[in-house]
Amino acid sequence: MNSQPLPYRRILLKLSGEALLGQEDYGIDPAVLARIAREIKDVLALGVQVGVVIGGGNIFRGAGLAQGGMDRVTGDQMGMLATVINSLALQDALERLGIYARVMSALQINEICEDYIRRRAVRHLEKGRVAVFAAGTGNPFFTTDTAAALRAIEIGADVLVKATKVDGVYSADPVTNPDAKRYDLLSFDKVITDKLNVMDTTAIVMCRDNDLPIRIFNLTEEGALMRLMRGADVGTLVAAD
Ligand code: GTP
Repeated sequence: MNSQPLPYRRILLKLSGEALLGQEDYGIDPAVLARIAREIKDVLALGVQVGVVIGGGNIFRGAGLAQGGMDRVTGDQMGMLATVINSLALQDALERLGIYARVMSALQINEICEDYIRRRAVRHLEKGRVAVFAAGTGNPFFTTDTAAALRAIEIGADVLVKATKVDGVYSADPVTNPDAKRYDLLSFDKVITDKLNVMDTTAIVMCRDNDLPIRIFNLTEEGALMRLMRGADVGTLVAAD
């Protein structure tokens, strides 16, 4: 047993839509979704409150649709709806494990989920429910990384935990560059000036200005999230100088 106090009381977990693809080319791999739900269940069992933002890139990506000629606003709206689909899938996977979860949407779709109301979100978290924040910020031209930063700040999360496919932030792409160096700790300003691929600049600036640390970790590494929650130095920490 680890008797150390937990470093985080409330977290915002940011998952990319692509993380749900697993072995699929499009949509959601149920096995991956179930594994993510199990990991969230383990974290809740520690007593940590969990909010989640999921992207929609496994279904639609607004910027990509715009490159294909579609109106950007329409593309982004389709992307926002894609995040609602992913959020409903996660809610279902959590509930199948006996975890209470509530999808809260930035766009009003009352027939299928709750509206995002900050005070209700905090109540859900305090009751041990997972709040899954859907539809991004509800606005085009904002990424789901920015939505994650916004929601994390609004709910008073202690950390924004961003799940990726690599175990942190590197000086170059570690897949194509064997000399790429992994950072343990980075300042917000270095992320911005060196254009390190952590999150988009809007999200980084929001985190910096509101003193919200970011942890980048590898979601495909089983148990990494739990180790992070128990206080291990997992992945890369982006924090104030
Ligand atoms: P507490 O009052 O904290 O216990 O929250 P609660 O969410 O259990 O209570 P509430 O009576 O607000 O909601 C009961 C159920 O209705 C929950 O499953 C909610 O997610 C769901 N619900 C609440 N508002 C909406 C909505 O606008 N749309 C949809 N589809 N479901 C909603």
